[in-house]
Amino acid sequence: MTGGAAPARVGVLGGGRMGAGIAHAFVLAGSDVVVVERDAGSADAAAARIRESLEHSVDRGTTQRSLTELTAAFTTGTETAAFSDCALVIEAVPEDRGLKADALTRAEGALPSASALASNTSSISIDDLAGDLARPARFLGLHFFNPVPASALVEIVVGAATDQALVDEARGWVDAIGKTPIVVHDSPGFASSRLGVALGLEAIRVLEEGVASAADIDAAMTLGYRHPVGPLRTTDIVGLDVRLGIAEELQSALGPRFEPPALLRRMVAEGKLGRKSGEGFYRWPTERSENR
Ligand SMILES: NC(=O)c1ccc[n+]([C@@H]2O[C@H](COP(=O)([O-])OP(=O)(O)OC[C@H]3O[C@@H](n4cnc5c(N)ncnc54)[C@H](O)[C@@H]3O)[C@@H](O)[C@H]2O)c1
Repeated sequence: MTGGAAPARVGVLGGGRMGAGIAHAFVLAGSDVVVVERDAGSADAAAARIRESLEHSVDRGTTQRSLTELTAAFTTGTETAAFSDCALVIEAVPEDRGLKADALTRAEGALPSASALASNTSSISIDDLAGDLARPARFLGLHFFNPVPASALVEIVVGAATDQALVDEARGWVDAIGKTPIVVHDSPGFASSRLGVALGLEAIRVLEEGVASAADIDAAMTLGYRHPVGPLRTTDIVGLDVRLGIAEELQSALGPRFEPPALLRRMVAEGKLGRKSGEGFYRWPTERSENR
């Protein structure tokens, strides 16, 4: 489907790295966006992230609208009641099943019954998350990629109970924000995380076994296979802790081929989380804003 329109009003639950990027994408596409965070300080931080991203879009000429106009198109707060007139709410709280289940239930309770609810989970089963919801037919996965502004893909994850009409609507929304949808059936790690994490874990094992340096392992994939970024650098950008969490989830669902390497566990325990902590497989002197 092409030529879809963004919903008039979109809610985002959790305005961190991904939530702020998702909010930015819908503001640029013409939606009014409300971001709900866990406390006032986090709501302010989310507003600053989104504003900074919008400023970069204006500076780069990505949009003809003024910063004042764009900034007026989003609000941040702490009450899910603000979702009461949203056609779509996307949950982007941390990758924890219990936290997500609770956040989704609260969001659904604030939404009109015809509205859609989505999760940006990287690895948790959409069917599991749907289990606690009153309207699973209006629920699906919308898996965005990091950094959102630079990523062309959104993976639409279809649960067993998801209404086909919602999948068609979601294709239109993804199109409206200038990204390309792929549609996958709910399965551990979907298509993207399963393949990306498999490559990342194997690259860590190659490093752990002393086969080659991090830079040479990455060059094998960038120069040899034309991947734009190598698997170890990608792991640094995503966050080693995030990747470890997904690997553990996939190991429990798909078996030992997703067992996290000891090196990954050790680095996470040492606080070497990649770009966000300043060190992972590479050194990252200062973290840059990515949501541009
Ligand atoms: N980082 C990535 O590369 C990436 C890529 C794709 C998908 N994801 C997924 O997106 C989700 C969010 O990841 P992130 O990297 O943005 O994490 P993050 O830690 O940057 O952001 C999470 C935000 O949620 C907020 N939050 C926590 N509990 C909340 C609650 N109860 N109600 C409202 N807000 C709450 C936090 O304050 C924080 O701002 C996860 O499910 C993750 O797996 C992450």
